[in-house]
This record gives sequence, structure tokens and C-alpha cells, in this order.
Amino acid sequence: MDSTTRANRSAWETAAHKYVDEYDDHLAQAATGSELVDIERDLLREVLSRSPAVVHPQSGHGLDDIALVRAGARSVVGVDYSSVTVGAAQRRADELGAPCRYVIAAVPGMPLASTCADLVYTGKGALIWMPDLVAWARDVARVLRPAGHLFVYEAHPAVPLWTWDEDEPRIRADRSYFGRAHVNDTFPGNGAVEWQWTLGQIVTTVAAAGMEILHLSEHPEPFWRAGGVSAAAWGGRLPNSFALLARKT
Ligand SMILES: C[S@@+](CC[C@H](N)C(=O)[O-])C[C@H]1O[C@@H](n2cnc3c(N)ncnc32)[C@H](O)[C@@H]1O
Repeated sequence: MDSTTRANRSAWETAAHKYVDEYDDHLAQAATGSELVDIERDLLREVLSRSPAVVHPQSGHGLDDIALVRAGARSVVGVDYSSVTVGAAQRRADELGAPCRYVIAAVPGMPLASTCADLVYTGKGALIWMPDLVAWARDVARVLRPAGHLFVYEAHPAVPLWTWDEDEPRIRADRSYFGRAHVNDTFPGNGAVEWQWTLGQIVTTVAAAGMEILHLSEHPEPFWRAGGVSAAAWGGRLPNSFALLARKT
């Protein structure tokens, strides 16, 4: 593991105590099964109707996994390198009787059998932690069975540029769309380094790993809003998230 990824992991371990401290709130939220947004539900409807075995790289608090099960998934295996996060997610799933299993491991390099997944579901703050997108895409393609699907719902790569000014959106002077990385100044904080990938790089990397792009859309809604902030950049004129559906060829 490279030194930046090691430092990011430590930042996540620290930040993940939130999932333990706010365990009851997260449990109540998970129990509603409502974590998937409409964009996700619409795009995943057909795939989920076939009871897929799901692998969720960088599964985090796991609320998405309970929602995936409620929406039709047969099972979910979540992989995350934070032992604190994995512990809280497993406890929550067990309490709710959801068929979710969590593994502490780094992505890429998931310790899962090849072709074990009908669907790889990921995003909501996942790709920014990958210093090597080619290796990530290869690992995703490896665990997918032939004709299995990859679904990503993620922050739009332009998001690091937007200020959170409430009067009107502005572009941050310290960021570039074509930058390689920047220091995260929100969550998990603690000096974590986010890697940047343009939309072109993401799509090309997925296709080069042997997956056919079925859908790519850009959306004005952010997948995450900092509490108490109502940024003009979220008002509908700018891209804040994207959704991608691909099928292994
Ligand atoms: C913002 S969360 C996204 C996941 C989930 N949707 C959520 O909201 O909790 C990012 C997660 O990625 C995990 N993560 C970051 N880099 C990772 C890596 N290289 N391998 C495994 N997990 C990683 C972190 O521990 C964190 O739980």
C-alpha cells in the first residue's frame, strides 16, 4: 500500500468513529431502506429485479447495502479498509437480519473469488480514494461474472471546483479540473488526499477493462451535502453527480 493510501486509511479509521458514536441514528436510517436515491433506483431496477449477488467495494457505513437488499439484491458483500466502519456495518446488518457480509480489505485487491458478482455497486465518495483507476477497474471486472453489471453513482469530477457560496457559484482558485489530487477539506478531513479523475478518464478506463458502457448521465444534485450549507452550486445549473451503468463483455 502506498504512503498516501496508508495515510488516507488512517484518516478514515479516525473519521469512522462517527459510525459508532451515531450507531443508533444510522441503524434507524438503515432500517428505512431508503438510502438509494431515485437516480439509482431507476437505473438499477431491472438488474435488481433479478436478485443479484452484489459486491460493494468501499462499502462505508453500509446503509446502501440494506437498501439494495430491500430493493431486490440476494446478498451484498461489502469491502472496506476501515475496520471501524466494517464492524459498525456488520453489526447493523446483523441486527436488521440483512444478508450482508463485510470484509476488511483494500481496494483494489478485493479478497473475493473471480466472477462471484452479478453486480458491482459503488460510488458516493469512492473513486476519489483510488490512486490507480486502471487497477480498480481490473479488480471490478475480475469479480464480475460475464454479463454482470457495474454501477457507479458518484460525485461529478467537477465538484472539487465549486465553492459553497450561497449567493452564486464560483470556481475555487486553488483547484483545477485536470489536477491530479487535492487535500480533502470536508469529511473525513484529517489531511486525507483525494485523487481526481476526469469523466473522460473514468469512462475510458471502465471500457478498457472490458466493460461496455450502457448509460452515463450527469446530474445537478450532489450525493452529499454538508450540514447547514446551502451552496448556490447545488441550485441546478452545474453538474454535481454522475451515474454510470456498464456490463462486462
Ligand atoms: C465516502 S465512503 C463511501 C461509501 C459509502 N457509500 C458511504 O457513504 O459510507 C468512502 C469509503 O471508502 C473507504 N475506502 C477508501 N479508500 C479505500 C481503499 N483503498 N480500500 C478500501 N476502502 C477504502 C473508506 O474507508 C470509506 O468507508
